[in-house]
Amino acid sequence: MPAKTDPIGIFDSGVGGLPIAAAIRELLPDEHLVYYADRAHFPYGDRPEEEVRHLALDAAQLLLMHHAKLIVVACNTASSIALSALRSTYGVPFVGVVPGIKPGSLASERAKVGVLATQATFQTKVFTDLVSQFAQGVEVVHQVCPDLVALIEAGETGPEEMSRRLRGYIEPLLASGVDTLVLGCTHYSFLTDAIHHIAGPDVRVIDTALPVARQVQRVLEGAALLNDDGLGGSVALHASADAAGVRAVAATLWPQPQKEPV
Ligand code: DGL
Repeated sequence: MPAKTDPIGIFDSGVGGLPIAAAIRELLPDEHLVYYADRAHFPYGDRPEEEVRHLALDAAQLLLMHHAKLIVVACNTASSIALSALRSTYGVPFVGVVPGIKPGSLASERAKVGVLATQATFQTKVFTDLVSQFAQGVEVVHQVCPDLVALIEAGETGPEEMSRRLRGYIEPLLASGVDTLVLGCTHYSFLTDAIHHIAGPDVRVIDTALPVARQVQRVLEGAALLNDDGLGGSVALHASADAAGVRAVAATLWPQPQKEPV
């Protein structure tokens, strides 16, 4: 039986899920978090579905070994491909993240939305279904930005080079009339400020880190597993490769105290 004081497990192919971890930490400060970066298999976004499904099942198993009471699939690629397999394989609740097509379509006045995501996410049935369900009458423009995730993973979010590359992806979308940008890859949350800066005040940027944290709260409340002991939670970071690199990126991009892995 899971206990309220058991941790929330979170995984991504790398550091991309950390903004979601940060949002959870802010909303639910008493929760203990165990974060797993599957860096040995980064990036997920270039892999075939079957491979991503296996990697996601392995990542969840590792988090269950750490007694996760709920698992957040903090990766659009892994959620779009593997969420149903995860739910039918393991007995804990899962919360996933998918591109915010619904809020993006509702926010777009010109009915034209740009989505930044991985090739793998765009190819899933989940993505196609999201568009047919929530973007009727809305033009959805796809943009894959493969080099950005690698730069973020390496901790290279320095303004000049990143901004040059971001402009290369975003300016054509804006020129085509898009008035809303959906961040459909969790890594891009690290670039929200830069994206706002390039896109300007009239373009809405849809990020799903906070809605995911709120969903975690709802699910834990519903299962009577919310930890509100008032003692303050913790964060433990684990990685399948280069844990020091992950910790270094986390420290730069998300300066929260982290426990050493046990
Ligand atoms: N963070 C992952 C996502 O949200 C993408 C990174 C990768 O390709 O592994 O889709």
